[in-house]
Amino acid sequence: MGILDGRRALVTGGASGIGRAIVESYIAEGAAVVIADLDQLQAERAADELGASAAVRVDVANEESVRVSYARAVDALGHVDVLVNSAGIAEESELADMPLDMWRRTIDIDLTGTFLMCRAVVPAMVSAGEGRIINIASQLGIKGGVALSHYAGRRPG
Ligand SMILES: NC(=O)c1ccc[n+]([C@@H]2O[C@H](COP(=O)([O-])OP(=O)(O)OC[C@H]3O[C@@H](n4cnc5c(N)ncnc54)[C@H](O)[C@@H]3O)[C@@H](O)[C@H]2O)c1
Repeated sequence: MGILDGRRALVTGGASGIGRAIVESYIAEGAAVVIADLDQLQAERAADELGASAAVRVDVANEESVRVSYARAVDALGHVDVLVNSAGIAEESELADMPLDMWRRTIDIDLTGTFLMCRAVVPAMVSAGEGRIINIASQLGIKGGVALSHYAGRRPG
């Protein structure tokens, strides 16, 4: 018996890093998991290796891509009762040198992407009367980070 027996989870960024580790531990605890990631090849590889139910491509920053990938996850799982938002990027640049497209990319993926994924899953969770959303953030959001004003909001200290 696992503590997640019967749970059906969608994990963004599940192809690598923290997201992949979450997929592995969720499956070990009995959950059925769909991996959603920008990197389709890595997502499929991770799904094969870890025993996930499916791998779907998503760009969390893109509204239509989020809609389609959520529909695919529901097809694979029946429904989604756990969403883990682990897709994210953390490129480094001092604020004065930061290209506008780096700023926008970070906000689009880390912030807007999390919003879009939450917005996709919430209606069904509300209808079902339950659901869990886990957003992976960073201690740098509290402590601040050097060359990460777009990611952490401020410098340390
Ligand atoms: N690694 C750390 O020490 C650390 C610490 C605190 C917080 N975080 C945050 O946790 C999250 C995961 O970090 P990680 O270390 O596992 O990173 P990672 O680079 O190993 O994994 C991130 C995953 O997100 C995917 N991804 C990137 N852009 C995407 C998009 N637009 N749509 C869908 N998927 C996309 C990547 O393909 C990758 O598989 C990030 O938000 C990161 O900033 C990381």
